[in-house]
Amino acid sequence: MDFNTLTELTKSRIKIKVSRHNKTESFAEDVLLGLSACKKTLSPKYLYDEIGSQLFEKICDLPEYYPTRTERRIIERNISEIISVCSPETELVELGSGSSTKTRLIIEAFLKKYHRLNYIPIDISRSILVESARFLQKKYPKIHISGLVSDYIKALNYLTNHHHDHKMIIFLGSSIGNFATDESLVFLEKIRKSLAPSDMLLIGMDLVKSESILIPAYDDIQGVTAKFNLNLLVRINRELGGRFDLDKFRHRAIFNKAQSRVEMHIVSIQKQTVRVDYFDREFNFEQGETIHTENSHKYSPLSITQMAERTGFEVVNCWYDENKWFSLNLMKPA
Ligand code: AVJ
Repeated sequence: MDFNTLTELTKSRIKIKVSRHNKTESFAEDVLLGLSACKKTLSPKYLYDEIGSQLFEKICDLPEYYPTRTERRIIERNISEIISVCSPETELVELGSGSSTKTRLIIEAFLKKYHRLNYIPIDISRSILVESARFLQKKYPKIHISGLVSDYIKALNYLTNHHHDHKMIIFLGSSIGNFATDESLVFLEKIRKSLAPSDMLLIGMDLVKSESILIPAYDDIQGVTAKFNLNLLVRINRELGGRFDLDKFRHRAIFNKAQSRVEMHIVSIQKQTVRVDYFDREFNFEQGETIHTENSHKYSPLSITQMAERTGFEVVNCWYDENKWFSLNLMKPA
């Protein structure tokens, strides 16, 4: 109902539906709210336009950004155990599928065992979803792809109303960490409510570790993460007629120990006023004032079990790397 089918793919076997809401309007609304607040914020979901999604792919390959390769190694090492909980009917639903690089390991092992697979990738970036669906369809002719271009909340509403029985929801990369603590519980509960009793959730969660590892992962030497973060201003300039001067802002990553999260901020290096044409108004920045653009929560094994318990899940299995930097958790409704 709230989705349109993407027609450019009608000649292929790929089906992709696009969430039907006015993109510019909701972006504008959120930017206006976020920049007018006394503590300025912008939602991390807006980091992923076409350029931002490409920059994020680059981040995943950075030497400092350990989550991607660590999680990939955990999947590689435990792939047969992971697949052993699937049946031939299991559908793989992936939240925030992006380039599906890590999921390919699961897809490949699944196809090797069961020879066919329904894969439902969900991502907010249409370009990356289409591109990776095309790639997967070509590489794995036996896969059936029906993707959704959507944010998580709309996607879960859709999933809850369109029952795919026998599913495994895959939520990798510690993307859950973007949510505030209470929001992540609401979100997990929402996932749980979309599951049948025999369905599962495979969720990657990053673990607390030394700041000397955490900070460089979010503030790399090459400045890719800085570019990723500041791209939000580029996006406001392009889409909303913003007048942000990128030389007057810089990227900052800090570890908030009390909240157990890495925070990304955009810092105004001087007192300044920035006009945004779309709103026909100006926004004031003090020197050192920040726009808080992302939280990336870091968990402990205990906090993961507690989150699961509070949201009606049972952790049935959990895998770590040798340093215990990252965890992959298999949960099912309790
Ligand atoms: C995609 C949300 C998991 O928080 O580590 C990477 C995003 N931000 N570098 C993360 C991100 C800066 C990433 N997640």
